[in-house]
Parts: sequence; structure tokens; C-alpha cells
Amino acid sequence: MKDQAETLRQRMQDMDGKQQAKTIAIASGKGGVGKSNFCINFALQLMRNDKKVLVFDFDIGMGNIDILMGKSPRRTFIDLFREGMSIRDIIELGPESLSYIAGGSGLSTIFELDQAKFAYFQSEFEQLSKSFDYILFDMGAGATHDSLHLISAAHEAIVVTTPEPTSMTDGYAMIKHLVHKDKNLPIKILVNRSLNEINGKATFNRLSLVVKRFLEVEVSLLGVLPDDRSVLEAVNNQRPFVIDRPKSKVSRSLDELARKYLNEYRRQESTFSFVDKLKRFVFER
Ligand SMILES: Nc1ncnc2c1ncn2[C@@H]1O[C@H](COP(=O)(O)OP(=O)(O)OP(=O)(O)O)[C@@H](O)[C@H]1O
Ligand SMILES: [Mg+2]
Repeated sequence: MKDQAETLRQRMQDMDGKQQAKTIAIASGKGGVGKSNFCINFALQLMRNDKKVLVFDFDIGMGNIDILMGKSPRRTFIDLFREGMSIRDIIELGPESLSYIAGGSGLSTIFELDQAKFAYFQSEFEQLSKSFDYILFDMGAGATHDSLHLISAAHEAIVVTTPEPTSMTDGYAMIKHLVHKDKNLPIKILVNRSLNEINGKATFNRLSLVVKRFLEVEVSLLGVLPDDRSVLEAVNNQRPFVIDRPKSKVSRSLDELARKYLNEYRRQESTFSFVDKLKRFVFER
């Protein structure tokens, strides 16, 4: 069996010279709506469709995707700035060799870097960007000054909400912050824990109407995932639900959602660099 370092080395070599990855930030207004579970299971589903995917735990200080995967990371983002480390050294492998970077408590570091260290982060991230098709950011709930920088710098944001009015209201507040920062950021809505498809679509329609009316932008529906006990069971087993409960309703819905996503957004060139945009937010205040 190949060891982790070799798997990664090969993965990064295979992709040399490739165009840059699409960065997707997964965010929400309210906490506990299912972002992290969606993030890792969506990543696995994209991988099963032959995409190279990296998950970046950007939940500053509270990241827990490693717990959901039953792993304890040896390295976190902060280690990148230790002598002689490269971004490849901080990538961990989860189930089905899913690549991820654990944020750890040091992620706010990004916003405290001086220009030289930021330049190092930029060159390392750009290397990453050539090695993967998609880089998913699992964000913490709510909008902080720092998290808004990260989400708005991505190529696309997925805002997760449940059909509950409190979750929708907080989702709207998050969208409002994002639109104020960048009116052109593509925003997609994931309705999670829905009773059924019709209910989920109705939730999306209500939210998108308010967004259109008051913020004057269009958001699109990424998809609807059902409320399914299998998620809780998989969390308790510390395994992603598409692995733990592959036949469950939620896994089948996610499979369909991922295929649809790949069909609709096939080969869109990412026209700007995530880190360039982030840099403007960080240094040009
Ligand atoms: N589709 C679903 N069906 C049933 N339960 C779900 C579903 N999605 C999430 N849950 C429940 O919600 C809990 C929280 O999920 P998760 O940790 O993914 O949320 P989060 O948005 O990342 O939370 P945080 O804001 O704290 O980061 C899960 O442990 C699970 O019990
Ligand atoms: Mg989370």
C-alpha cells in the first residue's frame, strides 16, 4: 500500500500545469444547519465523479471535520509557517483518501500575516490550486469580519439553510453581508433537513424572492437534502454518511445533487485567483 506522502506526491504531480481550482465557500447564518456534513460528503461525491477535491477547514478555532471523519490531524494550517514546511506537508488524508487541511486554532493567522508571509501563503496556495479541481471551504456559522473576507474571495458561495424561519432569516442576513461585499459573487442555496423536495423548493422560493426584492441579486438553488436520521447515525460513527449509509435517502439525494452540479457547471474557467482577491481585502483596507 502506498503511504500518505506518496499518494499526495503523485496527486500533486499528476495535476501540474492544470488550470486553477474552483474555490467554493460553504457558509450559513445560523449554526448547526449541516455545513460540515454537507462539505465532506459533497467532497466525497465529487471525488466519486473523478474530481480532485480538497477540503479546507476554515471554521476558525472550532473546526471539527476531522471528528466527523474519525481522524486526528497531525498538522494544521499554522504549521505551514514553520521552517521548511510546504502546503503539501499539511494536507491530511481522510476516508477514501479525501484530502483536507485542518484549520486548527491558528487560522486567524491569515489575517495577521505580514506581506512576505502572505506572499509565501499565496505561492503555496497557487500550487494547491493547480493540483485540485475543487477546493471546498468549510466555514464557521455567521458572519465575522474575517470570515466575510474568505467567503467573498471564493469563486462561489453555498449558503446552507434549513426550512426553519430562524435559519432562513439568518441565511438572509449572511447573503446580505456577502452582497454588500461583492455584488457579483455567485451564491447558491442548499436547503438541508427538508421534509420533502416540494417543501425544500418552497423554502428556496421564499428566500430567493426576498433576496431579489431587497438586495436585487439572483441566487440559485443548489439542491434540497432531506432530514434523515442516517446523518446523526453517521456522525455518531464518525464516518461520512455517504460511506456509512450509502443507500440512505440523504446519500441518494446528495449523489443526484453532485451529478447535477457537475453537469450544470462543467468546465467553467475560474477567471480570477482566490488569493489575489483575498489579498485585496486584507491589505487594501
Ligand atoms: N440532512 C440532515 N438530516 C438530519 N440531521 C442532520 C442533517 N444534516 C445535519 N444534521 C444534524 O445536524 C448536526 C450538525 O451538523 P453539522 O455539524 O454538519 O452542522 P454545521 O452547520 O457544520 O454546524 P456548525 O455551525 O457548528 O459548524 C449533525 O450532527 C446532525 O445531527
Ligand atoms: Mg461545521
